[in-house]
Amino acid sequence: MSTDALKFVKDGFVIGLGSGRAATSFVKSLSSFIKIKNYSIKAVPTSLQIKLIAEKGGIPLVEADHVEYIDVVFDGADQIDSQKFVIKGGGGALLRENILFNLSKKVVVMADKSKFVKNFTREVPVEVHPLARNSVIDAIRKLGGNAQLRSLDRGYPFFTENGNIILDCNFGTIKNPKSLTQKIKQITGVMESGIFLRKPDVIYKAKTGGKFEII
Ligand code: A5P
Repeated sequence: MSTDALKFVKDGFVIGLGSGRAATSFVKSLSSFIKIKNYSIKAVPTSLQIKLIAEKGGIPLVEADHVEYIDVVFDGADQIDSQKFVIKGGGGALLRENILFNLSKKVVVMADKSKFVKNFTREVPVEVHPLARNSVIDAIRKLGGNAQLRSLDRGYPFFTENGNIILDCNFGTIKNPKSLTQKIKQITGVMESGIFLRKPDVIYKAKTGGKFEII
């Protein structure tokens, strides 16, 4: 899957690097690929997690505010519905990932077949300014959701690389992700919703035995 996705990489491209396991697998393939092809690319990381993998692989890096656009971004997803909306943010990198999705000419998402559903069923990660924690929890409740503060193993709150908290919001089955995310994004103190309005252009669905389907 990762190696097939390399066909979208061209010499001179600015490449967006998502975060998580699927993105990590892609970045490792990308590192060997650009060396073999002698390609000159620049990559924009969405987290320290993927930055470290890219650095180790010798991939030249640049920050998102130093590029006008990204040619193609490669990322994973937490859930993908039948309308091809994605939920992201399982690792907490949703704000930077969404910035890159919107800067990119092409968005390529790679995910295991278990993540494909008709309608979203998992919690929606919502990045929130810490001081708006309670007001956003109330506003999410008014939208029919139950928001839980994401915490680390020993009970400490999880902070994003942007200094914000994550509320994992359970809305049950989500039939209208576009309208829900528009409402979430209107809440004061919300930095980003894990349901992205920018849909992927290419989706890799990984099956068993190294097989995959392109959607
Ligand atoms: C990071 O915050 C996320 O959006 C990840 O891209 C998402 O959780 C998918 O991660 P995996 O590829 O590790 O499942």
